[in-house]
Amino acid sequence: MKKLRVGVIYGGRSGEHEVSVASAASVIKHLDRTRYEPVPVRIEKDGRWTLVDRAPTAASAAEVIEQARQAGPRTSRARRETLIVPHESDDTLLTIDRLTGAEADQGQAVVTGLGLDVIFPVLHGPYGEDGTVQGLLELASVAYVGPGVLASAAGMDKAVMKVLFAARGLPQTPYVVLRRREWEADREAASARVLALGLPLFVKPANLGSSVGISKVKRAPELAAAIDLALEFDHKLVIEAGVPEAREIECAVLGNDDPRASIPGEIIPSREFYDYEAKYLDAASRTEIPATLTEAQVAEVQRLSLEAFEAIGAEGLSRVDFLIARDTGAVYLNEINTMPGFTTISMYAQLWDASGVSYTALVDRLITLALERHASKQRLRTSVL
Ligand SMILES: Nc1ncnc2c1ncn2[C@@H]1O[C@H](COP(=O)(O)OP(=O)(O)O)[C@@H](O)[C@H]1O
Ligand SMILES: [Mg+2]
Repeated sequence: MKKLRVGVIYGGRSGEHEVSVASAASVIKHLDRTRYEPVPVRIEKDGRWTLVDRAPTAASAAEVIEQARQAGPRTSRARRETLIVPHESDDTLLTIDRLTGAEADQGQAVVTGLGLDVIFPVLHGPYGEDGTVQGLLELASVAYVGPGVLASAAGMDKAVMKVLFAARGLPQTPYVVLRRREWEADREAASARVLALGLPLFVKPANLGSSVGISKVKRAPELAAAIDLALEFDHKLVIEAGVPEAREIECAVLGNDDPRASIPGEIIPSREFYDYEAKYLDAASRTEIPATLTEAQVAEVQRLSLEAFEAIGAEGLSRVDFLIARDTGAVYLNEINTMPGFTTISMYAQLWDASGVSYTALVDRLITLALERHASKQRLRTSVL
């Protein structure tokens, strides 16, 4: 049987570039080589797509972040630029090797088609997990892992996501949406509207991940600085009432039309809340799988996970995150991540491992789901003639 060529697109322009490098290293390492041939394609931080000679190997996001911090700002000089062709073609991705010397002076280059059968965009955050890359892949008519354009965009935008959850009556903590123009027009009025939620508050850029730009506000005078910080990352903010003493529970979903929910796990952050440091750099953050929950709570978390998945129209995979009030046990839906951290030690993979699906089987299943969705889409009529 011919091996399928799997393009693993990773890196990207978002603040989660390093996390994506680690996720891609895990995917590439665990692809069943008897069936798949990985082709790593890196998106540099400046947005260029390049074909890399050596696949990434880091075992964790912490390792990549540490390397990046030591290396400092550095521009990569990879020459093998890769372009995606935004129309149906046998060669969806092309690599351009620019020649050197006299040939280069004449503008000559060698163009090679990568001949990919399916693409795994292991990208987190804006310009990757938000429907932008998914849109390109749709135009190129290639099978790809994970949710499509709409679900990816809706899952990335916390304000839109919350509206879709609310439409199904899913439980969420009270929140307001604040736009830059409202804040700049009248800070006092905007503050009053926000503070009506009570304290503590969580101030979040609407379109981001990995806790970047998020602050916990415990006293009213801290609010303005938190809003200013979040506005550095997005023009639109979501500001939420804090769930007191929140337990953080996560559940993995896998499938297309008939998705399954994993057993839930718990994150025990080492810090005040689960911020960037606690997520990737502080080894003291722990996970507990399975989470210690009552049978009824497990059923509730799994039901809500599948509802959240359907609410945004997700396909393939998502991780659904909850906040549970320690005192009352009330379950609140926090967010859905359509391309969660994907290293072998990431929560998504760990939850499936504990639910009986190994990492290798998980990657295999996701590729099968991508091919199935693509095939079923190809069967649709595109014309009335
Ligand atoms: N309403 C809330 N109540 C309590 N803690 C919260 C709340 N919102 C966020 N947090 C804390 O902040 C972290 C990051 O928030 P989240 O909305 O998940 O953003 P991101 O998309 O960046 O992961 C959560 O994991 C949790 O620790
Ligand atoms: Mg989160």
